[in-house]
Amino acid sequence: MKVTIVGAGAVGASCAEYIAIKDFASEVVLLDIKQDFAEGKAMDLMQTASLNGFDTRIIGTTNDYSRTADSHIAVITSGIPRKPGMTREELIGINAGIVKDVTQNLLKYSQNVILIIVSNPMDTMTYLVHKLTNLPKNRIIGMGGALDSARFKYRIAEAIPCPSSDISAMVIGGHSDKGMLPLTRLATRNSVRISEFLSQEKLHEISEATKVGGATLTKMLGTSAWYAPGAAVSSLVHSIACDQKKIYPCSALLSGEFGLSDLCIGVPVVLSKNGIEKIEEICLNEDELEKLLLSAEGVKATNSLLNDLNL
Ligand code: LAC
Repeated sequence: MKVTIVGAGAVGASCAEYIAIKDFASEVVLLDIKQDFAEGKAMDLMQTASLNGFDTRIIGTTNDYSRTADSHIAVITSGIPRKPGMTREELIGINAGIVKDVTQNLLKYSQNVILIIVSNPMDTMTYLVHKLTNLPKNRIIGMGGALDSARFKYRIAEAIPCPSSDISAMVIGGHSDKGMLPLTRLATRNSVRISEFLSQEKLHEISEATKVGGATLTKMLGTSAWYAPGAAVSSLVHSIACDQKKIYPCSALLSGEFGLSDLCIGVPVVLSKNGIEKIEEICLNEDELEKLLLSAEGVKATNSLLNDLNL
């Protein structure tokens, strides 16, 4: 199982590290445009192999896509990250061109690859990759919901308090401060509804903190976060690589599900060796559905900016 990660910045490198530590892939190729950068990250990571006990081979390359040939999965993290005060949507002008180039280069060498898009604004970048490639929709996956859900679980666990591993919870909708929809009603602590442990007021507070989870960290760190994004991507890669069929909320191209079509937005999907095996059209109540539709309007508004970019 060969995995390529384009962009050896903090998110890409942390994703490579988590994949290696889980030790399910034979090879991870890290590619970056900055001379020797990916090679350096790969070497540093490979020097942890004997310490962390993994056999995954990590290879770095400066923009040589031939080294990515025959990848099963490719993760696109390239582009610029947010600075404090910026929205993810503001990155579209620069990142759309980069994502286009990267996608075309990857497909030259790996025709059957499953693509995971991380670059922001992620839902729109995922939609752009669909529009550019026309690949079957199971092979293009946007990573946002898995990260937002991990942040949601963290907030719930801190509030109760209990370990995050006790919490099952999901965030669907757009991967944006306004568009995220934490599904508080369905969240549980080891199958008990979290409303048994937390007041409605607290749940509202948790939901709002989750939605600005990325912005909060960007303000604290001066750039966007990387550990949880890297771990979230590695979990999606793991489910695909090992055909686990786990459910994660991912940005998927919709064609009528939840009454939505012609956009990519976060919905629960089953991830198997085929990529998106199935979109789970879970039953949402009226309020949740209304919020999802509003979120979709926001994503579509960002998608429409693609028309002005001369791609
Ligand atoms: C974040 C970026 C990866 O939410 O979108 O941290």
